[in-house]
Amino acid sequence: MSEFMMKTLFIKDILKEDFLGKEVSIKGWVYRMRDMKDKIFFVIRDSTGIIQAVVKKENVDQKTWEDATKFQIEGSLEVSGILRKDERAPGGYEIEVKEIKVYDYGKPFPLKGDEDIDTIQKYRHLWIRTRWFTDVLKIKHSLIVNLRDWFIKDGWYEVTPAILVGNAAENTTELFEVKYFEDKAYLSQSAQLYLEALIFSLEKVYSLTPSFRAELSRTKRHLHEYWHFEIEAAWYHMEDIMKVMEESLKYSIEKTIEERKSEFEELKNITGRDINELKQFVEKTWKIITYKDAIKKLQDLGVNIKYGDDLGSDEERLLTEQFDVPIFVTYYPREVKAFYMYEVGDGTVKNFDLLAPEGYGEIIGGSEREWRYDILHKKIEEWGLDKLKVKVGNEEISAYEWYEDLRKYGSVPHSGMGLGIERFLRWICKLDHIRDTQPFPRLRGSWLYP
Ligand code: 4AD
Ligand code: MG
Repeated sequence: MSEFMMKTLFIKDILKEDFLGKEVSIKGWVYRMRDMKDKIFFVIRDSTGIIQAVVKKENVDQKTWEDATKFQIEGSLEVSGILRKDERAPGGYEIEVKEIKVYDYGKPFPLKGDEDIDTIQKYRHLWIRTRWFTDVLKIKHSLIVNLRDWFIKDGWYEVTPAILVGNAAENTTELFEVKYFEDKAYLSQSAQLYLEALIFSLEKVYSLTPSFRAELSRTKRHLHEYWHFEIEAAWYHMEDIMKVMEESLKYSIEKTIEERKSEFEELKNITGRDINELKQFVEKTWKIITYKDAIKKLQDLGVNIKYGDDLGSDEERLLTEQFDVPIFVTYYPREVKAFYMYEVGDGTVKNFDLLAPEGYGEIIGGSEREWRYDILHKKIEEWGLDKLKVKVGNEEISAYEWYEDLRKYGSVPHSGMGLGIERFLRWICKLDHIRDTQPFPRLRGSWLYP
């Protein structure tokens, strides 16, 4: 070991602080390599960036030189040497290597960067090291952390609902069934019903959990497993939740742009996302339009749709292209939405979908909940949900009895929403396919590997 100052640093620290002329050491992976007879140029990457390291035959002992020649792309190592300025090097710095500690020379790396989707899936566990995908993961981290931050500052409690559940929260046709000892259980589609139970003690709650949907649709915006950020608040009306979401999403986007400048800079070359576009969405007021007006607008645009039809992704795309901000579409017909939404009395429910602009479409589903016992009970019967039974001890009771109980012991108006984190991220990063928002996406087909 050298008697000089030895310090294990992250690459970004070296580029930030003044280590010029000093000895530094960096742990990481070989990102690029160029062999020049008596010099080997490495570009080394770690989680924070890349730096060039040059091994000169004349500067190192025989063993170190031989080690240097044996590396493959993605081999792992620690290099130590003097940090110099070099305008030709990426980032403007270079390490003149004195010592190399070998962790793994690496085998020839199976990915070059132009593979088809089947090959990418086979090597997904390696593909996720791709630089632009690393940028996406860092942006995802920031969006989540900053969203949480807004809710914590605004006095909401984070809660931890169950994922193995006995009854559906949403459409029963999209449930994943699992064996739960001698019983049947399902993987949660939404934490909402549990959050509704928790507002009676905590009033304002949120959770971030995986949600599961066995949808048959194979689209660019559906995953079978996604991360769901959900909120629920006592005394809040639908309009309050819409305000909360406009404010918190703007906060999260704005802070993320600040924190992830260099990631967005790199990503721009891949997906075309320009942060100036995102800044516009933060500065402008978001649009609110009723479902009824949305249908009219679509009809004016020549779409074959009538009042009562649900909006599919094509309709949502067309609609969002008419505005330059996210849009809240409110008051859908009761028949196309879930059983728990507040009945206005004119055939609509008090709900909203938030559609992301630029064609991306729905990223949030939210509503005021039906908090009146009689109306909820009738609706549960109308939807046939009262026929679902569960065993509790020796008793068989209706699976939704507990949910109806919430309307019997101090019921209050309340509202909430669910945001699909991957849909949000897909829009923010301008990604074509939602699979690139998840390291290990679950899609139709043989997508349980890796
Ligand atoms: O609109 P959804 O089905 O609403 C609910 O689950 C409510 N219970 C939420 C609540 O009020 N607490 O789903 C909410 C959001 C959608 O807007 C979408 O962003 C996301 O979850 N989502 C999906 N994301 C990826 N893949 C899928 N298959 C998704 N299904 C829904
Ligand atoms: Mg929805």
